[in-house]
Parts: sequence; structure tokens; C-alpha cells
Amino acid sequence: MIQLIRGFKDILPGEVELWQKIEKTAVALLEDFGFKEIRIPIMERTELFTRSIGEDTDIVEKEMYTFPDRKGDLLTLRPEATASIVRSYIQHKLYAKDPVRKFYTIGPMFRRERPQKGRYRQFHQINAEIFGVDSALADAQLIFILATLFSRLSVTDVESHINSLGCPVCRPNFKKSLNEFLSTVKDRLCSDCNRRQTRNPLRVLDCKVPACKEALEEVPSILDSLCPECHRQFEILKNALERLNVPYVVDKRLVRGLDYYSRATFEVKTGLLGAQDAVAGGGRYDGLVKTLGGPDLPATGFAIGFDRLVELTPDSGVDNARQLDIFVAALGEKSRALAFEWSCAFGLAGIQVEMDMGDRSLKSQMKRANKFAAKHTLIVGEKELEQGSVILRNMATKDQVSIPIEGLVENVKAQLTM
Ligand code: HAM
Repeated sequence: MIQLIRGFKDILPGEVELWQKIEKTAVALLEDFGFKEIRIPIMERTELFTRSIGEDTDIVEKEMYTFPDRKGDLLTLRPEATASIVRSYIQHKLYAKDPVRKFYTIGPMFRRERPQKGRYRQFHQINAEIFGVDSALADAQLIFILATLFSRLSVTDVESHINSLGCPVCRPNFKKSLNEFLSTVKDRLCSDCNRRQTRNPLRVLDCKVPACKEALEEVPSILDSLCPECHRQFEILKNALERLNVPYVVDKRLVRGLDYYSRATFEVKTGLLGAQDAVAGGGRYDGLVKTLGGPDLPATGFAIGFDRLVELTPDSGVDNARQLDIFVAALGEKSRALAFEWSCAFGLAGIQVEMDMGDRSLKSQMKRANKFAAKHTLIVGEKELEQGSVILRNMATKDQVSIPIEGLVENVKAQLTM
């Protein structure tokens, strides 16, 4: 038997209804806030991700599914969606009429991480991106949308963490003081951190190794190094969140696992998913449009880990076993042909229907009706056809009524609503 790829999963009927409910709720909310759907390919040229996410990140260093195609072009299954949306924004000049554009996209991403609860190799994200707005009010709107979505889905135990990563003006200063600090604790850092210290010291702040976390307790805060404009924007963000009653925690160690960020970054964390505590993450990436060959336009966005959100969302009120309205049991070829036409007509009229298309006894068809937990069974045989009527049996009460074939769909509908 050929099994699923490790870290990939099927989403089966019975589970998928909760995914559908979450997707519907998220789409309705995003569209109310003016976001338009954009669909991007799941594969891109590898260079798009290495240039945007950054060479020294875990994603690019060790997690991408990258392979040459038959012509030798290096392709990668998307590990995230932001880079592709930026590529699309530039390639189709979506900024031409108005640089301010808001997009959302939902779909699978691929990272070859070690699978565990809440961490998969194919996982799904709900992404939202705002282009062309350089005010922190856009960041506040994104965090507000996240908080609203989680509350609409009755997800509790989530907390918004925010930080600022500064900009090209002030970050070099911070990197300098960070590097000075790191050299004092060098011996206590893991080999990855030591390797990264020179090339990308911010990454060290993100290390999950307990000894590194301990060594960094006294690490300087980037918030103390912000230039006046970054500082002002961070204040705007905090004030806006306060006015919107969105609780937040300022987290000076929040640096995110992708290199394109500047200024505001945020994560929504939960205590309910063990080590994989981030349900959503995002932030501002003002330099990325330009880095990828577009105009110098700011941008900000988030991605929700859909799989993690499903694990946190209570499924009460989700109709994951919609009961069949009618099972059509037909006896004989002529009846079956008619029953088939009627079942198509029932389906069109919004009556959920099943029938047995094989040549089986009434007894075995009734068994199937019970298996489906059908509310009613419509029985049609040669005798019924001659009489111009069929039998509708209520499976709970066992009551049977005779229904005229003339105007059948309407007649059945009337019975179902009784
Ligand atoms: P990210 O933090 O890499 O950001 O991913 C966002 C969310 O995707 C995470 O918080 C987590 O919930 C989920 N996630 C990531 N990896 C996995 C995995 N292996 N299994 C299950 N869930 C996972 C980004 O991807 C950025 N593109 C977000 C963004 C959009 N920034 C600006 N715009």
C-alpha cells in the first residue's frame, strides 16, 4: 500500500467541515475590510524565496522542497505566500492605478521541518497583505482582524505579541550593540547561533535552545535603539491597539524566522499547542517590493497557520454530518431509470439525496438508507409506477404516505417541511 508522505495529511469528511467554517468566517471578515482574493502558484523559481526570505534562515537553509525540473530550472514548492504575492504585485503592475492594494490568499505551503503536533511538511495558511500604506495603522488593522477572527471562532487563550525590528537607519546600530553583547556570551550559545552571529545576529534572538534563551536574558532591547520615526510608528501601533481594545504584549525578542521584516512584527501565540505556540505571524516588509525589482512601496501582512487554528477552534455548531434528506430505493430497471432522474431533480432542488444505482433487493436498499441515516426513503417499484404514485417513508416514525408522481419534487418538498 502506498502511504501518505510523512508530514503531509488528508483532511477527511467529518474534519473538513470545520475547515470550511473557518475559511468562510475568515473570508467574510477579510472581504468586509476590503481585501480581495489573489491566487498564486504553489511553485516558483527558487531564487524568489532565497532573495526574499533570506539565505541565513532555517527555511532557506534546510526546509525548502527544491528540485530542478526536466530542463534544469531550479524550482521550489512555496514555503510561504508573501514572496509570491509581491512577485505578482510587481509582475502585473498591480500598483499602477493605486499602490494601495489589499490581498488575501488561502492554501498549502511546504516546509521540510521535523513533523510533530502542530508542525507539518504540508500545512495551510490564511494570508493577508496590505501594500502601499506606510502608517502603522495598517499593522494595527491586521492585528485587529486577527483578534476579531479568533474571537468569532471562539478561540481563547491567544495573545498578540508585538515588536519593532527598526529600519535600515536604526537597525545597524542595534546589530552593533547586539554583537557586542553576543561576544560576551559566545561560549554559552549553540553552534547555529555562533555561526549566525556574524552574518545575521538577529536570528540568535529567535533560537529555541534553552541554554541560548538563558544566555540571552540580559540581551539589549531593539526598542531602545529605534530611530525617531520607527519609535513614532511603534507608538501609533500601540495606541491604535489600545483604542481598539486589543490586548498585546511587547516582546523585545520577537524577530520572526524570515529576513524581509522591518518595523512592526507580531505573532499571535497560544499556550494550547505545546512547542508550536504561534498561530499567526506577520509584520511590515517595507523593502521587499523594491528588493524584488518593483517600486519602493511599503507593505505589511500576516499569515495564520490554518492547521493550528483548526486545532484550537471548538467545533460546536459545525454540521459535520448533514443528514441525508432522502434515500431513493428503486425496484426494477424502469423504476431505477426514473428514480435516477428524480434524484437529480431532488439534488437540483436542494434536497440532499442518495440512491442505490445497482440492482439490489428492497431489503438491502433499506439497510443502506439506514446506514446513511436518511430522514426519508422514497420507494418506487413497477406497481407504484402503474398507480402513478410513490411511497415516502419517514425512517424515524416508520409512517408511510403515498405521493403523486405528477409534481413529485414539489410534493416531496412539502412533505419534508411538514
Ligand atoms: P511564518 O511565521 O513563517 O510567517 O508562518 C505563519 C504561520 O504559519 C505560523 O505562525 C504558523 O502558525 C504557521 N506555520 C508555519 N510553519 C508551519 C508548519 N510547518 N506546520 C504548521 N503550521 C506552520 C510567514 O509565513 C509569513 N509569510 C507571514 C507574513 C505574511 N508576513 C507578512 N505577510
